[in-house]
Amino acid sequence: MEIRTAVPTDAPQMSFMLKQLVASGKRTSPADEAFIMRNYIEDPDRILCSVAIDDDGTLLGFQSLMWALDRNRFETPVGWGIIGTHVSPLAGRRGVGSSLFDVTKKAAYDAGLENIEAFIGSTNVEGQAYYEKMGFRTYRIAEGAICKCCRLQEFK
Ligand SMILES: CC(C)(COP(=O)(O)OP(=O)(O)OC[C@H]1O[C@@H](n2cnc3c(N)ncnc32)[C@H](O)[C@@H]1OP(=O)(O)O)[C@@H](O)C(=O)NCCC(=O)NCCS
Repeated sequence: MEIRTAVPTDAPQMSFMLKQLVASGKRTSPADEAFIMRNYIEDPDRILCSVAIDDDGTLLGFQSLMWALDRNRFETPVGWGIIGTHVSPLAGRRGVGSSLFDVTKKAAYDAGLENIEAFIGSTNVEGQAYYEKMGFRTYRIAEGAICKCCRLQEFK
């Protein structure tokens, strides 16, 4: 598996994968290419968006990390990072999410972040288990969501 920065030509595969997550009931947000370009690949607030690619070129998953700016839609404290993780339903529990976070964590340190927040649906048991395993802990409860925080200095 290769982990590299997402580029515009990844958008079709990312869209296809997000549509699979929608079909399997694991996502409710948009999954079209324009949304992906705007919110992940070319998001002006991004720190990094990485893709995980299989040996045959198939997209296995991607992870985004962006700055929490004033009035961000998650109400994450300003100056924190906001993370999003999306792994193909066909590639679950194979370490894709963990490998993506290794790269994201390094980018977070390089950017000088101290905290990263994950906004997870309150019924999304696997998402909560994943972020707990990555070192995130429940920080606040929002409407329909559990927000977990990774305090990066605790890894040092
Ligand atoms: C949650 C998600 C990112 C996990 O990705 P993944 O590549 O399967 O994760 P990994 O294989 O690296 O697993 C890391 C750890 O996460 C936890 N985990 C992952 N999938 C799990 C599941 N289905 N049930 C319980 N725990 C799970 C485990 O602790 C696992 O460690 P282990 O296998 O050593 O026990 C992936 O299932 C996904 O994209 N789901 C849909 C979208 C989503 O929920 N995103 C995150 C919240 S917004």
